[in-house]
Amino acid sequence: MEYIDKIIQSRRSVRRYKNKPVEPDIIKQVLQAARWAPSWKNKQCWRFIVVQDSGIKTRISHTMGQNRSLQGILEAPVLIVLCAKTGESGYHNGVLATEKDSWYMFDSALCMQNMVLKAHTLGLGTVIVGLFDSSKVASIIKLPGDYEVVAMTPLGYPEEEPDAPERKTIQEITWSNLFGETFDHD
Ligand SMILES: Cc1cc2nc3c(=O)[nH]c(=O)nc-3n(C[C@H](O)[C@H](O)[C@H](O)COP(=O)(O)O)c2cc1C
Repeated sequence: MEYIDKIIQSRRSVRRYKNKPVEPDIIKQVLQAARWAPSWKNKQCWRFIVVQDSGIKTRISHTMGQNRSLQGILEAPVLIVLCAKTGESGYHNGVLATEKDSWYMFDSALCMQNMVLKAHTLGLGTVIVGLFDSSKVASIIKLPGDYEVVAMTPLGYPEEEPDAPERKTIQEITWSNLFGETFDHD
């Protein structure tokens, strides 16, 4: 298996973390991977809040309700909150270029994927978390109005090795030429 396939397929969402600090250089390497993601017109709408203050982390955790990652967020020494500047991605000369106004979500997802894969290569765990009250998080981190909180991930040394949840087969998710026409990939 190619190295990249191994990294992509062995990355898991990690929800339990060791009580072990993450070195500043590791955080920097993860952010470095993030900033090399592709983006709409290279606008790089993403912004990162690296939360290491346990008081702020606890306040953010209170916006999550019954989330499966709640404990992991409290355990991991670092929480990266991924935010995005709105009104840039998907726009041409200040005007929406397509019918979609959420390309910043797409750019942010690409950069989050870079982060979680890079963290995995460094032996760190992550879990992308989307289920929380983003306006409450925005207010906790004092986010200006032209930015949105998109998602977050804890970053820490894994305390568990979860099994891989099953994936749909290529045939279940792929059509040939027209939607519904069987794609023969053999
Ligand atoms: C956009 C997005 C939002 C997610 N939100 C949450 C979340 O709020 N809580 C959680 O525990 N996992 C969350 N996950 C993690 C998924 O549950 C997980 O990626 C999926 O079950 C596949 O497992 P794997 O990452 O180990 O391959 C989210 C993943 C994505 C991509």
